[in-house]
Amino acid sequence: MATKKIIITIDGWSSCGKSTLAKQLAEKLNYVYIDSGAMYRAITLYFLRNHVDWTDQKEVLSALTNIQLEFHYNENSAQSEMYLNGENVEYVIRDLVVAEKVSEVAAIREVRTFAVKQQQAMGKKKGIVMDGRDIGTVVFPNAELKIFMTADNAVRVERRFKELYEKNPNITLEEVKNNLEMRDYIDSHREVSPLRQATDAIVLDNSHISMEGQLKMALGWVKEKL
Ligand code: CDP
Repeated sequence: MATKKIIITIDGWSSCGKSTLAKQLAEKLNYVYIDSGAMYRAITLYFLRNHVDWTDQKEVLSALTNIQLEFHYNENSAQSEMYLNGENVEYVIRDLVVAEKVSEVAAIREVRTFAVKQQQAMGKKKGIVMDGRDIGTVVFPNAELKIFMTADNAVRVERRFKELYEKNPNITLEEVKNNLEMRDYIDSHREVSPLRQATDAIVLDNSHISMEGQLKMALGWVKEKL
């Protein structure tokens, strides 16, 4: 394929397969994949562990100065994983305990400024696929290809339940459903960078599309942009 490298953004609702598509694309195109949600999850983990009162702006700003976020590629899992102050937190940040608070933390202006700055730096050389909520609208408003993903609620709940149940068989479908609904509500109603579809984004509803099917569609869009 052409040597020109572009920025691909994938935004959308919780658990609609954004990271799956982003990873597929990055692998096919030999691009870097960045899971921006992992950064908000890692910050939330830090706040929870260190009992940071995130309703207090001063405490938030001070805590952020002690947070170092990095992605490192893991050969075994064949993906980049999230490190918080040198510790691999890729697994623990997926926990429902973190998911229950992450949208509250991600709504804080200072937290977003902190994360967005780092995300923008990662895209300097292009050749990147980043997924999240505000990537096409705020982080990379000039991205060449923007995808907005959605899927039926029941499909999304079922997918996330399966993922979490493998780690924790005590989890219930109801808990997962409530968490997704709560996060979607907070993410789309917050004041700073709410989740919304960029006007120039292509909508992909993958409720009834296979993983191979969605990749084929997205690669077609990439081809048009190269
Ligand atoms: O995987 P899932 O779609 O469920 O969520 P995620 O991408 O891991 O993101 C977790 C949470 O981080 C979201 O519910 C948002 O509150 C927040 N987030 C955000 O505010 N902005 C982003 N660019 C990415 C995530």
